[in-house]
Amino acid sequence: KTFDHLQGIIENLFDEAIHKAFPGVLAQYNIALDVARTRTQKFGDYQCNNAMNIFTALKGTSGAPSSPRDVATAILAAMPENNVIENLSVAGPGFINAFLKKEFIGTRLETLLQKGVHAAPSKKMKIVIDFSSPNIAKDMHVGHLRSTIIGDAMCRILEFQGHEVMRINHVGDWGTQFGMLICHLMDVFPNWQEVMPDITDLTQLYKNAKQRFDEDEAFHKRSKDQVVLLQSGDEQSRKVWNTLCDISRKEFQKVYDRLGVSLYEMGESFYNPIIPKVIKMLEDQKITEDSNGAKVIFTSKYKQPFMLVKSDGSYLYDTTDIAALWYRLNEMKADWIIIYTDYTQQDHFGLLFEVGKMSKILDPSKHRVNHIGFGTVNDESGKRFKTRSGETVRLVDLLDEAKARMKEQLTSRIASGQTSLPASEVDAAAERIGYGAVKYFDLSQSPTTSYEFSYDKMLSTTGNTAVYLLFAYARLSSIIRKSGVDMKTLDTKVLKLADPHEVALAVELLQFQDIICFINKDLASNRLCAYLYNIAEKVQLFVTKCRVIGVPEQNSRLLLCQATLKVMQTCFQMLGIDPLDQI
Ligand code: ARG
Repeated sequence: KTFDHLQGIIENLFDEAIHKAFPGVLAQYNIALDVARTRTQKFGDYQCNNAMNIFTALKGTSGAPSSPRDVATAILAAMPENNVIENLSVAGPGFINAFLKKEFIGTRLETLLQKGVHAAPSKKMKIVIDFSSPNIAKDMHVGHLRSTIIGDAMCRILEFQGHEVMRINHVGDWGTQFGMLICHLMDVFPNWQEVMPDITDLTQLYKNAKQRFDEDEAFHKRSKDQVVLLQSGDEQSRKVWNTLCDISRKEFQKVYDRLGVSLYEMGESFYNPIIPKVIKMLEDQKITEDSNGAKVIFTSKYKQPFMLVKSDGSYLYDTTDIAALWYRLNEMKADWIIIYTDYTQQDHFGLLFEVGKMSKILDPSKHRVNHIGFGTVNDESGKRFKTRSGETVRLVDLLDEAKARMKEQLTSRIASGQTSLPASEVDAAAERIGYGAVKYFDLSQSPTTSYEFSYDKMLSTTGNTAVYLLFAYARLSSIIRKSGVDMKTLDTKVLKLADPHEVALAVELLQFQDIICFINKDLASNRLCAYLYNIAEKVQLFVTKCRVIGVPEQNSRLLLCQATLKVMQTCFQMLGIDPLDQI
């Protein structure tokens, strides 16, 4: 068992030591190896916490150790000769602490400088990521923002590792809302046949149509018939539908362009033609049931049925999704599907994956599927984040506001001489930092919890914010710039870590691959933010405690700065944030 990343290397060492001291104990008692970073640097870089559970497991057997500390001491004595860890000690009830050897840290850092930042090698996969997925004729709001930003970051993280990622925008372009939209449009623009109306405010059109749909019975009926017409391929309905989709598409694209997010549209309508085939497949397997004229599927896990076909013969959200699941796994040959939506759809996807398994569309031994249901974005009083007039906040306004506030901050920094950023670059810088801050604020929260929206927190120069991180990055860049040293001419051999602040920063940099491995497992992309923040804090200590320019250690420290920039740059890139060399 060989690992390229640090966690794996240290785990191997402890595994070996435990096996030597207590042969076979982990396997026999089904104990998971527990090796982690220490919480306080003072005691070490890594700790192994297995002494306690090994002690408990062996209790009462012949020759059982007399205390967890004895277990720890025996493991420590059995540690194989190695060039990775040193100064092992037993603490508390039996924690084993270990420090990384400085030469080891130095060598790994040199490799990083020479070869660049890489993820641990892994089997290449085809991954479908279904994210953003707004609905036609409705505005993208802060909820879609989370899906777009977090989904994009996950794509970048997986792309970085060399996987083939398919960025799918599952646009809501096929629901029953189109009946009322088409009818309403035909009514208010009676000569739509000659000139397609130029609609700029689709949201208003939607609202008006919805009001009529709810209040006017005749209109309600017409709308329903219209959906059937559209879904059966009626040319006129198609034409109006196309226009509506195009208008929305243009609006969505503006947002994606501003966020630097790329997506491939495969909306709900895409799957319409394959639905009959998939339904037939499910029927042939005899897992469908008739329920008052509707076709449904019951699973053992959920009370509510999976709705395949309504009693009037029309298809639903469920229908499209089972067709999409089939298409992605069988036609696109995806090994892994990740879907991002808000948490209210948790059961929908839980049920979908169950039906997938029942029907063998989904083979858990071959395919991995995840739904990430994120929490809501709330205001400071804990209510859903809305504008003052009670409307959902539009994404574009949010980005504008962040940029404007950042511009103010930068302008006052220039006025007070805190930066030599040329005035001509303020606008572009404010945009990069402002947008970065909006993204980062979202990315730094756990994807599955709700959070409180606050411009002030988002744009703060302290704490776990993009602004703080970008400052740390710019600070290091400026040190290198001011040194006047051409980094390309520096031999990485001059790297020598001595000061504890240098070591602490370096140890942090070596965690990169481990962080990526953890994210691959639990999809908590916010780990990357926590990691960047840890680095930035170590940078802050390093630059305040260790002079770089003009001291004997200068070149070694410049290399440490450069390695830090490389790791930070990679993380920023995975988060979709563009760092600046000067702020
Ligand atoms: N359009 C949906 C919404 O806005 C999200 C679609 C997610 N993807 C899917 N395959 N159902 O909530």
